Amino acid sequence: MTGELSPIDKAKFVAAKRAADYVEDGMRVGLGTGSTAAWLVRCLGDQVRDGGLRFKGVPTSSRTADLARKVGIEVISLDEAKWLDLTIDGADEFDGDLNLIKGGGGALLQEKIVATASDQMVVIADIGKEVEHLGAFPLPIEVIPFGWQTTQALVEETLISMDVLGRKSSMRMNGDRPFITDEGNYILDLSLQRIGNPRQLALVINQMPGVVENGLFIDICDAVVVGYGDGRVETRDINEGTVEQDRIDFIETDNLFKDLAE
Ligand code: 5RP
Repeated sequence: MTGELSPIDKAKFVAAKRAADYVEDGMRVGLGTGSTAAWLVRCLGDQVRDGGLRFKGVPTSSRTADLARKVGIEVISLDEAKWLDLTIDGADEFDGDLNLIKGGGGALLQEKIVATASDQMVVIADIGKEVEHLGAFPLPIEVIPFGWQTTQALVEETLISMDVLGRKSSMRMNGDRPFITDEGNYILDLSLQRIGNPRQLALVINQMPGVVENGLFIDICDAVVVGYGDGRVETRDINEGTVEQDRIDFIETDNLFKDLAE
């Protein structure tokens, strides 16, 4: 099965596999959303079933919750966990300070709440997610449905005075209907091209009525595990200032790839 994976999927897989080593018995762990996080959940499920790993997972979306249960991970809510040892999640972009754009999968609100309630956040990503400046990936913001067009106009107007190159926004769609988040809200994707001051932008956007949360994760991520299509992985820890390199062999197991075939 791994032979059929694209280089990007292999990169995502090795990053997830390496990051699974962070999870120890007895931990409460936030489980991210997206295709890279799905690899993580599969790897952890494999270790629960075959390696006897025991931990509790707090999913950041209904999709991740479904997959986690399916692969045998014990799922609890954030309110049950209250505080987490660790969150591992994907990202749409990360910069040299490990600031992130997240929300490509539409789960940014739960993802930010869960990551912020964790002693440590580890991001897993293929090397293509690394950028010098955030903003090429459209910045998702979650808005409440009431008056969303007014909120959109307010956001676009506010962007005029921000250090960004673009200020167009679009409503995220799911077919011919608005994409609805797990909290029943809409997502606006902001095409900013380059964000000069992500910290300032994150604060300003969140002050607008109608905005629930934005996809900029500033000073939340502690380490990034970067995967390459040839099996190399690099772990960069911003607190320790360390960079560790490793290589992961693609080992095909029935369990790990089972749900892909279903
Ligand atoms: C979901 C996210 C994801 O982590 C992000 O979109 C990356 O996804 P993928 O791992 O599929 O590339 O923020 O809201």
